[in-house]
Amino acid sequence: MNKLLKNKILLLTGAGSGLGRSTALLAAQEGAKLVLGDRDNKSGHKTVGLVKEIGGEAVFLKTDVTKSEDIKALIGKALATYGRIDCAVNNAGVEGERNRTGDYGEAEWRRVIDINLTGVFLCMKYELPEMVKAGGGAIVNIGSTASIGGVATMPAYVASKHAVLGLTRTTAMDYGEHNIRVNIIFPGSFRTPMSERLFGVDTIEEAVKPLTPMRRLAKADEVAESIVWLCSDRSSWVSGSGLSVDGAKRAG
Ligand SMILES: NC(=O)c1ccc[n+]([C@@H]2O[C@H](COP(=O)([O-])OP(=O)(O)OC[C@H]3O[C@@H](n4cnc5c(N)ncnc54)[C@H](O)[C@@H]3O)[C@@H](O)[C@H]2O)c1
Repeated sequence: MNKLLKNKILLLTGAGSGLGRSTALLAAQEGAKLVLGDRDNKSGHKTVGLVKEIGGEAVFLKTDVTKSEDIKALIGKALATYGRIDCAVNNAGVEGERNRTGDYGEAEWRRVIDINLTGVFLCMKYELPEMVKAGGGAIVNIGSTASIGGVATMPAYVASKHAVLGLTRTTAMDYGEHNIRVNIIFPGSFRTPMSERLFGVDTIEEAVKPLTPMRRLAKADEVAESIVWLCSDRSSWVSGSGLSVDGAKRAG
């Protein structure tokens, strides 16, 4: 059977940890050639090593998604190495501090919005012209159940993830005529360093189970599957969509 991402050039941010690393590994297994960015140099290079261990191909550039110069350099690296970008996964994100709106730090608010929302905007701003030139592409933005519902004490995170949903829908409308699909996924909680920081390494399983109709904590690989599918030509008529990947957490 053909690999889902055979010969696709896939750019991915936040590649050094959690969902980014899992997606890189799954995409490589499915035949993609990877251009990886993360603000953390060491963990990004570690992901490249893991991709190569399974026989995949990847290059890495230290990239802070709040800096347009970094994003332009990452895209430049993709073009210099592979000549085009077919797919982009805008995954880098932070959870931010936990506080009610009235107590939320102004600087922290701006930091979370800058990374989670402006970072996705900047990535798409520079990815899209290259995809237009290439005659098409697929973008997957990483939302959350927090894109479609509230989460107590996480106002900046929830606001940023709601906003990425609107940005995704609008961009899909504007670029459909260029054969570019733009989608967002809404994962529930799955085990990564981020969710372990939020729920505790040893307590995450028990914390998440009661909130999840399927009564378990997901693995990052299970979420990565949906991203790979949305990047692939097998989802050719899916654009402007939000896909819940959450064990029915937001059912109904
Ligand atoms: N873990 C969950 O339960 C969960 C649930 C829903 C959505 N998500 C979303 O999935 C995405 C990945 O989260 P994760 O759980 O893998 O988190 P994580 O903290 O394990 O990994 C995030 C990665 O992003 C990188 N990063 C952070 N800020 C960056 C910046 N400014 N520029 C470049 N890279 C940066 C970090 O260095 C890290 O490698 C995020 O967008 C997150 O909001 C996670």
